[in-house]
Amino acid sequence: MRSIIPDYLAQALGDVESDTSGRLADYIPELAAADPERLGAVFATVDGEVYGAGDIDTEFTIQSISKPFAYALALADRGFDPVLAKVGVEPSGEAFNQISLEIDTGRPLNPMINAGAITAHSLAGSEDMNPSERVERVVRGLSAFAGRPLEIDESVCVSEMEHAHRNLAIAHMLRSYGILTENPRDVVEGYTRQCSVLVTARDLAMMAATLANRGVNPLSGERVIHEPVVRQVLSVMSTCGMYDAAGDWATQVGIPAKSGVAGGLIGALPGQIGIATFSPRLDAHGNSVRGVSLFERFSSDMGLHVM
Ligand code: DON
Repeated sequence: MRSIIPDYLAQALGDVESDTSGRLADYIPELAAADPERLGAVFATVDGEVYGAGDIDTEFTIQSISKPFAYALALADRGFDPVLAKVGVEPSGEAFNQISLEIDTGRPLNPMINAGAITAHSLAGSEDMNPSERVERVVRGLSAFAGRPLEIDESVCVSEMEHAHRNLAIAHMLRSYGILTENPRDVVEGYTRQCSVLVTARDLAMMAATLANRGVNPLSGERVIHEPVVRQVLSVMSTCGMYDAAGDWATQVGIPAKSGVAGGLIGALPGQIGIATFSPRLDAHGNSVRGVSLFERFSSDMGLHVM
């Protein structure tokens, strides 16, 4: 890692460190036990340079940041039409765990909210896969984005499943509309395993950099997905990635992004850079408080806003 950018990053972290507002996600008991003071930021450029400061190698669960990547795998594995028939691309303007289904069809509005992400999970891999083969496909796919083999945190997964009534209810609704064709509990369990994949801020920056690099991991050189899929995923991240804060994010930061309730946040700037931050306290939308501040600062300091 080189010197000037880590100094800039360390200073940016120092400036947000005193902000202790927000709360740990407590609907998953294991997440409520996280160290709220963790703080890290990483830049990964499309030519493979990595710059970081703070807690960049601490593992935490990927949670909703898995959603754009699982959506990418579904598009790659099944093709656009079958996926679009089951998951839309319109912002919901609602919280991530709202039902947000189209009235007549029961199609989830987009793949970033839970309803759409549960459906996207069911579409990753081939139709004839059993639930554990599908999870394996998803973990392998996420690992290719990160450029290293990733693993599931079983205790976070069990902890979330014990309280997954809302996601189970959503999955049963989806099953009743024929959007899901498998056992709803199996799909929610698979989706929860997907959310429980352990990553570091460094991994997340590399995953974002793979999107920014139009589907090729900048370090491994592996083509993980094709460009039309990248364009689709980044478009949906732009409009829906920050849930009901998507409009504020678009105007203040202006980078396709995705957040997760364990405190991770990624942004991907096509042709340039993947950015990840990690800080576990969340705002009312479920987005990392200090992560949002850091992204606002990065965007303004470096003119990253795409508009
Ligand atoms: O479905 C859930 O509730 C979680 N496993 C993931 C939610 C999440 O990360 C929302 N993002 N900020």
